[in-house]
Amino acid sequence: MLNVSTPTFEHHREPLGIGEPAPRLSWTVTADTPGWRQQAYEIELGDGTTTGRVDSAESVLVPWPGAPLGSRERRGARVRVHGADGSVSDWSPWSYVEAGLLDPADWQAAAAAPPLELLGVPDGPALLLRRDFSARAAVERARLYVTAHGLYEIELNGRVVGDDVLAPGWSSYAHRLRYRTHDVPELLREGGNTLGATLADGWYRGRIGFLGGKTDLYGDRTALIAQLEITYADGSTDVVTTDGDGWRCAPGPVTATSLYDGEKHDARLLPSGWSEPGFDDSSWLPADALPHDAARLVAPTGPPVRRTGTLSPVAVLTGPDGETILDFGQNIAGRLRIRVQGPAGHTITLRHAEVLENGALAIRPLRQAAALDTYTLRGDAEPEEWEPRFTTHGFRYAQIDGWPGELDPASDVVAVVCHTDMRPIGDFECSDPLLNRLHDNVRWSMRGNYVDLPTDCPQRDERLGWTGDIQVFAPAAAFLYDCAGPLTSWLADLAAEQAEVGTVPHYVPWVPLAFDVSPTAAWGDAAVLVPWVLYQRTGDLGLLRTQYASMTAWVDQVTSLTGADHLWDEGFQFGDWLDPAAPPDNPGKARTDHALVATAYHAWTARVVADTAALLGHSGDATSYAELASEVRAAFRREFVTPSGRLACDTQTAYALALCLDLLDGPGQRERAGRRLVELVAADDHRIGTGFVGTPLICDALCSVGAYDTAYQLLTQRNCPSWLYPVTMGATTIWERWDSMLPDGTVNPGEMTSFNHYALGAVADFLHRTVAGLAPDEPGYRRLRIAPRPGGGLTHASARLDTPYGPAAVSWNTDGTTLTVTATVPPGTSALVDLPQAEPREVGAGTHEFTTRL
Ligand code: BGC
Repeated sequence: MLNVSTPTFEHHREPLGIGEPAPRLSWTVTADTPGWRQQAYEIELGDGTTTGRVDSAESVLVPWPGAPLGSRERRGARVRVHGADGSVSDWSPWSYVEAGLLDPADWQAAAAAPPLELLGVPDGPALLLRRDFSARAAVERARLYVTAHGLYEIELNGRVVGDDVLAPGWSSYAHRLRYRTHDVPELLREGGNTLGATLADGWYRGRIGFLGGKTDLYGDRTALIAQLEITYADGSTDVVTTDGDGWRCAPGPVTATSLYDGEKHDARLLPSGWSEPGFDDSSWLPADALPHDAARLVAPTGPPVRRTGTLSPVAVLTGPDGETILDFGQNIAGRLRIRVQGPAGHTITLRHAEVLENGALAIRPLRQAAALDTYTLRGDAEPEEWEPRFTTHGFRYAQIDGWPGELDPASDVVAVVCHTDMRPIGDFECSDPLLNRLHDNVRWSMRGNYVDLPTDCPQRDERLGWTGDIQVFAPAAAFLYDCAGPLTSWLADLAAEQAEVGTVPHYVPWVPLAFDVSPTAAWGDAAVLVPWVLYQRTGDLGLLRTQYASMTAWVDQVTSLTGADHLWDEGFQFGDWLDPAAPPDNPGKARTDHALVATAYHAWTARVVADTAALLGHSGDATSYAELASEVRAAFRREFVTPSGRLACDTQTAYALALCLDLLDGPGQRERAGRRLVELVAADDHRIGTGFVGTPLICDALCSVGAYDTAYQLLTQRNCPSWLYPVTMGATTIWERWDSMLPDGTVNPGEMTSFNHYALGAVADFLHRTVAGLAPDEPGYRRLRIAPRPGGGLTHASARLDTPYGPAAVSWNTDGTTLTVTATVPPGTSALVDLPQAEPREVGAGTHEFTTRL
């Protein structure tokens, strides 16, 4: 049996309205011949282009073989493969890709903006816009290209188009505003039709940021930008755009909506049939047609935010003042959907919080985010269903006030999980239920923090694309979900917002809040390390090419700051943020010297840029960055390492950096440093002593010097601070602080205390690579490294991953003396199998079983 999948295009989950005119193709093969390898491929495009037989083992992000797609052009592609063993597959089914509007000149639409009279204060009412138009019979194709200044929901003849949430998401609007392409012929009718849109302020104009935040960050007027293109069977076309003409506006039922504060909806104010033909809009006001820069409009590279699941309450609790509190059993990003019947004008209030304190909602950690929704009933004879549309909250608990009658938790309220609709690709499981819960918590924190961009947290007045957080979490993220598309977009924003001198904003998109941008280690280094991680995990060399200027600009800037001694010891640093020893009100007061952290990162990213330059064929750069990396490494040793291998800074993080980033000189120094790290961890009673910087590295550092037992003692520690302490406290997501909740059940007094921050969950990558033993040995998992290191009393562990070449898996069992490993290696790849007490060996595609002694 030999089968080839339908090809995919770039990193798209849904290749409709893409922005790449020559999308790279990928496919996977299912073969039951052990060791199967691709010898050649053939691609055929729907326009008759064929590659013929191309002798190549490539099947991931293979160059587009035909003429570039024009705007709106749709083309099929199929593939057939030849194995090295002479086997030939059938042609795959056709898969279709369609370009969006590739040229700014394709956009005829203006920005239809509600008139100033209707515009409330930011985070005020959402406004309705509508326009009637007519369509003829025999529609062959209809596409709606749409985006907004602000958030939009768009309807065609009374039906919501698509299932996006918080569209168009948040990007660096000044440079890149993403539009969506919807396929809409089924929603059209012959004769009268109506487009209707609801527009909210969202990130564009609403309040963003901490310390009171700012409003009107991108502009002071919301607007809809939409272009409906209808093609008829006879080849003629109609185009309906937001040209101002015929677009009319009015307030609607959403009387106020804010990403942080929540939404207020008065159902009595919904004009019945407003987005359908025949509605009398004579009292509505005309929209203004404003110019906008179509060159900023870009197609998405990944999926939108969607509703990805619902949760019913697991308990109905009564708070200290008799309030009704629903427990959904899981901390999420999302919102509630209610089903309620009651008198017209009656208002229900929904409040949200991540945890309870003394039995009541703990809302202090939300800071200035009210996270409060209200619904005022229409008073229908039938139950009314409602879910806010332009806000999300981070919560596990919801307090419901003013419910008319008896609330039935089984049918009246669900929590709707919302986040970027990425494909889950990886899993982990082992014999320790606490580690499994830790892993689940990491996954939930990733879900909660991908509300369109990689954020720090989903609940308080922040939710920003903090660079340091995704920098440390990217390896875990890239295993759990296919996040290459969303991160490609975010990296384009990062590059767009990077200063000419190379400075990377602390968060992307950048909004000026309390402080200025300054170059900061581990945070700014995201410019280099996030593309590098994606390359390792997906094999996407094109991304490195695209980001190369951004990567080098960052390293060059740091180089210019450090001067001749190569030590980065000046300027503001976040350092080993949230070292557990830092006081609650000073999270940056870590034990590890900021200059040590910053210089170690500089050596790291210089090395990565050197490797990137070599891959891209920039040999001059490859040499000069490699020289830089070794000079910085030498500077690090001069300043921070004794000849025997002790560090000037006697902390877990300092040793983790030195060991993992190869900053020491030879086996002697490594051995001494390793021994000292083991001593330090033991002296801390095997409790974690690292913040954002040391946490992703510490277990790897210990394993790199053979201290597996110490790594497992740290990993399975339950006392605070540790990874499992929050699990023992009932955590369902990763906390921002090791002790966001104190052992007595009170919330950490620090004003910055979230219960959903993924950074400290970066350890999931260690679970995948070392506990289960599934890691990439070559970019894109072209070669796997199967190297489980059982320990910690675990009797089994397994990991599964949809690699770019197909499903891979490792699963092991042990009785303490014998280890049995089963591994699945995808067709077209090989694996280095490195088991305890055994010589490393190479295997080809197929399922293998190995037994060794421990
Ligand atoms: C965020 C972080 C972020 C940090 C910067 C916090 O407010 O929530 O996760 O990285 O600031 O140090």
